[in-house]
Amino acid sequence: EKDGYDWFMRKEIFEQPKAISDTLLGRYSPQGELTLDEIHISPETLRRVNKIIILGCGTAHYAGMVAKYAIEHWVRIPCEVELASEFRYRDPIVDSQTLCVAISQSGETADTLQAIRHAREQGAKVIAICNTNGSTIPRESDAVIYTYAGPEIGVASTKGFTTQLIACYLLGLYLAQVRGMKFGDEIRTIMDELEAMPAKMQSVLDHADQIYTLAKGMEDEEDFIFIGRHVGYPIALEGALKLKEIAYLHAEGFAAGELKHGPIAIINPGMPVFAVVPPQGRDQLHDKVVSNIQEVRARGARTIAVAEQDDNEVDQFAEVVISLPKVSTLLQPVLAVVPLQLFACEIATLLGNDVDQPRNLAKSVTVE
Ligand code: F6R
Repeated sequence: EKDGYDWFMRKEIFEQPKAISDTLLGRYSPQGELTLDEIHISPETLRRVNKIIILGCGTAHYAGMVAKYAIEHWVRIPCEVELASEFRYRDPIVDSQTLCVAISQSGETADTLQAIRHAREQGAKVIAICNTNGSTIPRESDAVIYTYAGPEIGVASTKGFTTQLIACYLLGLYLAQVRGMKFGDEIRTIMDELEAMPAKMQSVLDHADQIYTLAKGMEDEEDFIFIGRHVGYPIALEGALKLKEIAYLHAEGFAAGELKHGPIAIINPGMPVFAVVPPQGRDQLHDKVVSNIQEVRARGARTIAVAEQDDNEVDQFAEVVISLPKVSTLLQPVLAVVPLQLFACEIATLLGNDVDQPRNLAKSVTVE
């Protein structure tokens, strides 16, 4: 049932192009309209929303962090992202004009469930983004956007995450459409890009051997750092989480701009630093990350960049460059996370760990 793969996790990483196309299927009409049939919240109600709160735990929370950038940019509604486990203990400001988005692969995470119960008690509408048909979180939500990743068996979430990203993009574009933003052409351009994503992701997977070669010998490292800016920041956090979970190694993700405010002090000669580099040219983001790479390299770090192909600056500063096909900045996380998933899977394999059932972790966390 692992189809010749050593682990379910690896199989699921390679299933991502299909998981993404299944999640996009039937949701965008040839007439250029997004149809999210599962959103049973009236357009009038959605037009009145003045704040969005995205809730999730772990990897799902990182998907929410990416969603904030996309939704605020496209929809211009203030969007907060909060760990579900923190939400209801702080007396959050929630009312009938608040839209909560609960992201959960399993649909059974107790922290997320309690958070949406609290939100609904305050009158908020809740949309679940979920991979498990009929699970508790969608049943207790006002609406649901299902991801079609298929069952995720590896404890570390992979295709669950990338399909959550796709669902978040769809939700953002849908909200923009419902709210009548002058946005039609742009929606089409972004949908075209999303539809091209499975093939682009496949080409990242086709180069998995480069990651496996990189991993060889690195399993003896004790600390790994991941940096990124903008939507690359949650990807840095996710890359670090994957290594912690299955390789049991110390890994930390930082917003690259924060390095000089403290974390750069921990850089030791030879320490591996992965940097998620935004596409070149559009804004200053790219150059800022490239200077962060220079800064850590000057302290002796071993720098590995995940960057767009043909980036003609990054290779001057990074020791290793992992290339991604061209996509717009907001969508880059879908591709950028893949090498980090492969890397963690390979390191954990080299260490002889049980990749699919890491110690101390359960697939769905049904206690608070
Ligand atoms: C990470 C991981 C966890 C889950 C988190 C939420 O690989 O699997 O961090 O993402 O426990 O789980 P769901 O999405 O089922 O609510």
